[in-house]
Amino acid sequence: MNPVDLENKLAGLPLGKIRYFDSIGSTNDYAIYWLQYGPPNLSVVIANEQTSGRGRAGRQWLTPRGAALAVSVILYPDQLQHTHLAMINGLGALAVSEALLKLGLSPSIKWPNDVLLNRQKVAGILPEAQWLGDTLRGVVLGIGINVQRAAVPPAEMVSFPAGCIEEALGQPVPRELLLREVLDALISWIACLGQPSFLKTWENRLAFQDEPVKLVPSSGEPVEGRLLGLTPEGNVRLLVGQDEQVFMAGEIRLRPLVESKQRGG
Ligand code: BTN
Repeated sequence: MNPVDLENKLAGLPLGKIRYFDSIGSTNDYAIYWLQYGPPNLSVVIANEQTSGRGRAGRQWLTPRGAALAVSVILYPDQLQHTHLAMINGLGALAVSEALLKLGLSPSIKWPNDVLLNRQKVAGILPEAQWLGDTLRGVVLGIGINVQRAAVPPAEMVSFPAGCIEEALGQPVPRELLLREVLDALISWIACLGQPSFLKTWENRLAFQDEPVKLVPSSGEPVEGRLLGLTPEGNVRLLVGQDEQVFMAGEIRLRPLVESKQRGG
């Protein structure tokens, strides 16, 4: 990846500014810093390597040089509609899954936003809202994709099996083209954020539909139930015993019950 090639590959997309780093701590950290200078909507930060990539719940996210995609997209609230902030999770996951579909793969989304291929996580989304007091300054939507095997974290680093796109596809994937597809899909879906078509597509792509799953909150007891789908707000619906219960994204992790039992956890 080099900046000139990247600019060419992204030409024609209605992006704001593009900042490319051969190596950076975290594209999300840079985008959050950049926000105070008011970059245009849909400005992007892209890195060939992250040395302190961040995942959800304070976890580390690996982005070894040349093996992954790490991008952060800056979005402003007037483009987002406040009530739909929770859906930014779905937006990132839909954009990645759309790009993978175009490659001929069959992605699914582990609610709220992990993208899976063959039940292995290949991409993660980290949306971070920036507030000025009560006012939303902007949202940084971080997207990390394991393209090559070198980007797949070792088993002891992850709580869910991880994989990469090239192994699922069986051939090399040009990262710039993948990035273009992801950004293209993201831009298309923003216009539909929270609308029935958006929710239906997100829901239809959910992994473990109608399967027994376990929701593991960061504190409190895990809940087991059958995955029913989404609410209009993008929360997950579970059949727990005879009752339908709704859970919000946050620090909840979702696991397929069958696999987690097989794996002893
Ligand atoms: C997850 O834990 O699943 C979310 C991972 C998000 C990783 C991406 S890579 C680009 C951006 N910069 C970061 O430091 N994190 C996000």
